[in-house]
Amino acid sequence: MTLPLIEIDADLSALNTFGLPARAARLATIERVDQVRALMAEPGWAATPRLVLGGGSNLVLTRDFPGLVLRVAIPGRRRVAEDERAWYVAAGGGENWHEFVRWTLAQGSPGLENLSLIPGTVGAAPVQNIGAYGLELAERFAWLDALDLATGEVRRLDRAACRFAYRDSLFKQEAGRYLILEVCLVLPKPWRAVTRYGEVAAELAESRIAEPTPLDISDAVIRIRRRKLPDPAAIGNVGSFFKNPVVEAHCHAELAALYPALPAYPQADGRFKLAAGWLIDQCGWKGRALGPVGTHAGQALVLVNRGGARGEDVLRAAAAIQADVWARFGVALEMEPVLI
Ligand code: EPU
Repeated sequence: MTLPLIEIDADLSALNTFGLPARAARLATIERVDQVRALMAEPGWAATPRLVLGGGSNLVLTRDFPGLVLRVAIPGRRRVAEDERAWYVAAGGGENWHEFVRWTLAQGSPGLENLSLIPGTVGAAPVQNIGAYGLELAERFAWLDALDLATGEVRRLDRAACRFAYRDSLFKQEAGRYLILEVCLVLPKPWRAVTRYGEVAAELAESRIAEPTPLDISDAVIRIRRRKLPDPAAIGNVGSFFKNPVVEAHCHAELAALYPALPAYPQADGRFKLAAGWLIDQCGWKGRALGPVGTHAGQALVLVNRGGARGEDVLRAAAAIQADVWARFGVALEMEPVLI
């Protein structure tokens, strides 16, 4: 057991993609599980506030963090197994998600292409059950190994144990309990293109691609994302700021009667998922700002840092948007990123 590299009074502003200013009392960079065990053996571990950090692309920092930030930098990508029904591929929690997706494609094991260009790390992907363009991580999930930060035990969790739901999982419900070490995905054979999301189909049609390869789909998704979503390296943001709200059928029916253009997606349980971006856009918020925080001109669901924003500015803008959407549609918007 060796202690990891630890920085005291660390600046977190470059470690969260919103670019919010905050400091951590201690910041440890974790490359191996024994480094966490060494930290756990220190006196006072149980009482130390802990924050597990990946790429910082789904995090809103509203204050300095008084405890220990564990930045997961565990490397490694591997082919785990292959049989007639699937490929199994795994990566360390610290690997960059998008680079991992492209690596699986280069290895000839497709199935993650719809999730191309999502910012963040492999270890963070199950936390919010990332999803985009017709696919959710849960649909390709085999297992993960997580270190229980309370007991020190490594547990292998399967799909059911992770309690995945729309932008939700065990790791969001029990925040701070687990550090995800490695994630294994199952990529079914034979590969089938997922083109049910209208925009992906339209993008492929535009490029006159009738029978897309996995790489065609990855490239199409990358083009769509570059067009609509701000690059966190250029403009601070954390992707979608609110979840798409799921409402009862009678609520959907009332709104649809008033707003025939209302985008809505029927759910298996009879409820309807509405498009938060559309609701926000209708309230006149697209491209509008409140102080240093605004919504992105191409996608009203994405809040952006227009320069010098602090956590409280983000919360103020978010509250103003929630209030307007509530006043106009009677729909409550729930924040999607993790709030510290
Ligand atoms: N819309 C507007 N105005 C806007 C934004 C959206 O009218 O400013 C309308 C669109 O025209 C469309 C509908 O709202 O009819 C949905 O928009 P879009 O297809 O852009 O998807 P979304 O529901 O806003 C979700 C995910 C994204 C994911 C895309 C593609 C959530 C919270 N967000 O966005 O995920 O990339 O679908 O699958 O579920 C993220 O989680 O950070 C994220 C970017």
